[in-house]
Amino acid sequence: MTPAPPTTDQPIVALSGIVKHFASGTLALDGLDLKIAPGEFVSLLGPSGCGKSTALRLIAGLAAPTSGTVEVSHHQGEARSAKAIGFVFQEPTLMPWTRVRENVRLPLTLTRAPATESDARVEAALARVGLTEFADSYPRELSGGMKMRVSLARALVTDPDILLMDEPFAALDEITRFRLNNDLLALWRNLKKTVIFVTHSIDEALLIGNRILVLSPHPGQVKAELNAGHLGFADLGTQPFELLSRRIHELLFADTVETALVNEVHRGA
Ligand SMILES: Nc1ncnc2c1ncn2[C@@H]1O[C@H](COP(=O)(O)OP(=O)(O)OP(=O)(O)O)[C@@H](O)[C@H]1O
Ligand SMILES: [Mg+2]
Repeated sequence: MTPAPPTTDQPIVALSGIVKHFASGTLALDGLDLKIAPGEFVSLLGPSGCGKSTALRLIAGLAAPTSGTVEVSHHQGEARSAKAIGFVFQEPTLMPWTRVRENVRLPLTLTRAPATESDARVEAALARVGLTEFADSYPRELSGGMKMRVSLARALVTDPDILLMDEPFAALDEITRFRLNNDLLALWRNLKKTVIFVTHSIDEALLIGNRILVLSPHPGQVKAELNAGHLGFADLGTQPFELLSRRIHELLFADTVETALVNEVHRGA
């Protein structure tokens, strides 16, 4: 069943008028505005180089905007911290010299969490992604999909309110990707996190995002926003799915930036 659409009246993440200029002279983002409600699963879709990773880094506080404001709040009311945001990076960044368990523990070590609490959290995060049996393996002993699960467990281990995922499944085969998409959706339903999920794949964005923000080509702005909360795996290949997919395709290839709320398919249809 489709949950009621969350409201962005009190966003957990709000970017307004974001401009990001790099010292190299590249203008990565030029007037990016977005608001994300607590508990939303938002897909960010856009061509390569449009500033998706840059936007996630700004939200995580790993980089600062040239101008504009980044506001991030948390259920616990804490200041933004490594603990409150989980980040699954675009590049796999597991430590090859240490076991899965220690890879997952890293954010807790960095935040100096007490050892007994850390042990329980690490085991729980491994169980959530189905890797309990591989806790003592080294990353080189795992498949690509399993390595991605380790990254996901590491992002979940601090029990963050916000999960930022930068094309996490892009390098995986379609079968593994669909399986992980499904698992991620189940996790999201259970854990009630806010997820911001970057992808190049229109199908993936439609299947797992409740809302899709389509970004314009370099420099990035939000070009259109679509609701897709009613679509799931059972809709793949159906007419409503194909209609929305075609519309996104057109938007990605259109020249002009039009801020449109596209709702061709009724929620719950
Ligand atoms: N640290 C940096 N220094 C200079 N330029 C950068 C830096 N990081 C990103 N850029 C530039 O900013 C633009 C946006 O990069 P970004 O990585 O955010 O794009 P993206 O949408 O994530 O692309 P992709 O889909 O290929 O991952 C690109 O032109 C890139 O070259
Ligand atoms: Mg990127």
